[in-house]
Amino acid sequence: MDTLEQKISQIDKNRVPVHVAMIMDGNGRWAKKRGLGRSEGHSEGVATVHRVTQFSSDLGIKYLTLYAFSTENWNRPQTEVDTLMYLIGWAIERELPELLRNNVRIHLLGDIERIPEEPRKRLFYARDATAACTGLNLNMCLSYSSRWEITEAARRLASRVAEGSLSPSDIDEKMISDNLTTAGIPDPDLLIRTGGEERISNYLLWQIAYSELYFTDVLWPDFTNEEYADAIIDFQKRERRFGKTSEQVTNTTTTSQI
Ligand code: IPE
Ligand code: IPE
Ligand code: MG
Repeated sequence: MDTLEQKISQIDKNRVPVHVAMIMDGNGRWAKKRGLGRSEGHSEGVATVHRVTQFSSDLGIKYLTLYAFSTENWNRPQTEVDTLMYLIGWAIERELPELLRNNVRIHLLGDIERIPEEPRKRLFYARDATAACTGLNLNMCLSYSSRWEITEAARRLASRVAEGSLSPSDIDEKMISDNLTTAGIPDPDLLIRTGGEERISNYLLWQIAYSELYFTDVLWPDFTNEEYADAIIDFQKRERRFGKTSEQVTNTTTTSQI
């Protein structure tokens, strides 16, 4: 087994992904395996968020987008939803000093108005407090789903057409991208899902059109920086062709084309 240092030395620092997205799955199963309640799995998952944020910063990754709570997760038992909301508010407040020290800027993606007031205030506070940070952009997807944001974008554009300020023929891919919660952010280069499921679960459907997908059986609380490094090493071995031929893309960049 290579140590973390050995793995880091295998990463080409000039070709790290610009944008990494993660589906943080497996907290419940991690807890169940240990005879603990699901909320203890979620608490342990916060430590992994801390680790991957630090590691992403250290590697010079510019965007880290984390799926923390989906639109569909509102349908979980109310006690679990309450625990998650409490934990999110508490964790962001606790992490804020270190995020500031590491120059990390927080962005909130999703239907944030649905988040209960107490954690929502803490989230807004952290977002505003880090607004001048210029290092890693940490995008927290909360009450987020891709179909929700695409529906919102369609509604917004349709109302502009209805009022006469936009012509349907002017709608292009860029305009749609610019009306998603990820406006201005390059598409993810690498999407990592922990927890063993090989599905997307309504995450960034538009944005991952050409992302490299990496699935691991490791449950989110067990996801170490060694495993994160493995994902990046694997990513760097892939040839991203964006529909072109292998010959065409040789010697061109392997990160987002935006
Ligand atoms: C991911 O872990 C965290 C959230 C979805 C909020 P899960 O809670 O989905 O854990 P499993 O998939 O049940 O193990
Ligand atoms: C995806 O995990 C959502 C988050 C990680 C926030 P889920 O556990 O909700 O996904 P499914 O239900 O297994 O597809
Ligand atoms: Mg799950």
